[in-house]
Amino acid sequence: MKKNISKITLPGNGTKRVLKSVVLQSPLAGVTDQIFRKLVRRWAPESLLFTEMVNARSLELGYGRNKVEELSKEKGPIGVQLFDFRLQSMIDAAKRAEDAGAFLIDINMGCPVKKIAKKGGGSALLKNWNLAAELVSEVSNAVKIPVTVKTRLGWCEKSSDPVSLGLLLQDAGAQLLTLHGRTRKQGFAGKSNWLAIAEVKKALGIPVIANGDIKNSNDAINCLKISNADGLMIGRGSLGSPWLVGQINSFLEGQEPIKDPDPKTRLNIALEHLQELLKAKGDHGLLIARKHLKWTCTGFSGSSAFANCLVKAKTPHETISLLNQKINSLN
Ligand SMILES: Cc1cc2nc3c(=O)[nH]c(=O)nc-3n(C[C@H](O)[C@H](O)[C@H](O)COP(=O)(O)O)c2cc1C
Repeated sequence: MKKNISKITLPGNGTKRVLKSVVLQSPLAGVTDQIFRKLVRRWAPESLLFTEMVNARSLELGYGRNKVEELSKEKGPIGVQLFDFRLQSMIDAAKRAEDAGAFLIDINMGCPVKKIAKKGGGSALLKNWNLAAELVSEVSNAVKIPVTVKTRLGWCEKSSDPVSLGLLLQDAGAQLLTLHGRTRKQGFAGKSNWLAIAEVKKALGIPVIANGDIKNSNDAINCLKISNADGLMIGRGSLGSPWLVGQINSFLEGQEPIKDPDPKTRLNIALEHLQELLKAKGDHGLLIARKHLKWTCTGFSGSSAFANCLVKAKTPHETISLLNQKINSLN
């Protein structure tokens, strides 16, 4: 199926960026690290992928710098998503990310985590539009690459006015807006409101990316029809399915379909992911890998019992043996 969608061009502040794919991988804290991105990239060579959200203040203090290092060594475009409420920290972090090879800077205005919102970052900016606009404007002036925003429909239903907020952020210099069709109060409850995204798309001149509840190619088509968005961002659907962004993209582009991998292939992907994490982080990699193993090892009879057993294995060696045994037992 070839959908009539065009590439997205962002002028930047002198450094133009072209999104060759309109299907984006969302930032996912604790998930979209360099190793996960490498897997996603295998099926989605041109898609814009994001770092996990990065605390701008921490970067200043020297923590979390590994999240924005050596981005230019990765294949394909990587956006760095920053959060904080302190202007100078955001400016410094954006410059650091730009120097490291970020394709663009995204400002997080949707994170519901209390620890972050209580201090004024993430979704708290939905209640402080002046600061939200100032952050966009100052960060945009500080870097040459485009600055974008990822946000929700509002803090709560009563105060939700995503069209006015979108227009304000656009005027402040945001070059693209990604909208998760839920309010902060909703968290992940209910359904992503793609119609509300359509209202924003109609009002704004900058590209609007629809986000929320896109788990397969059918959802993608429906979301595009309803929202008329310029592109789509995939979040939870990619957990355990790093091929999903590429699969949806090739469907929309009318290319050779990418089939869901069979169970044996899924297990091999899980094994590869584990081994990469162990290589990069030593035994600590096992702790990070467990959630991925649980998400990826599905789709065969007894898979949930197997995944439970797998995540209880105490050592990397034991985990790898269990995976290999299961892989060899499947046709
Ligand atoms: C585990 C997890 C981590 C997330 N981390 C981030 C993040 O770092 N930055 C962000 O903007 N959104 C984050 N989100 C929200 C997603 O990017 C996305 O907006 C949301 O899950 C809705 O899309 P979906 O229905 O496709 O998952 C996270 C969501 C989950 C489930």
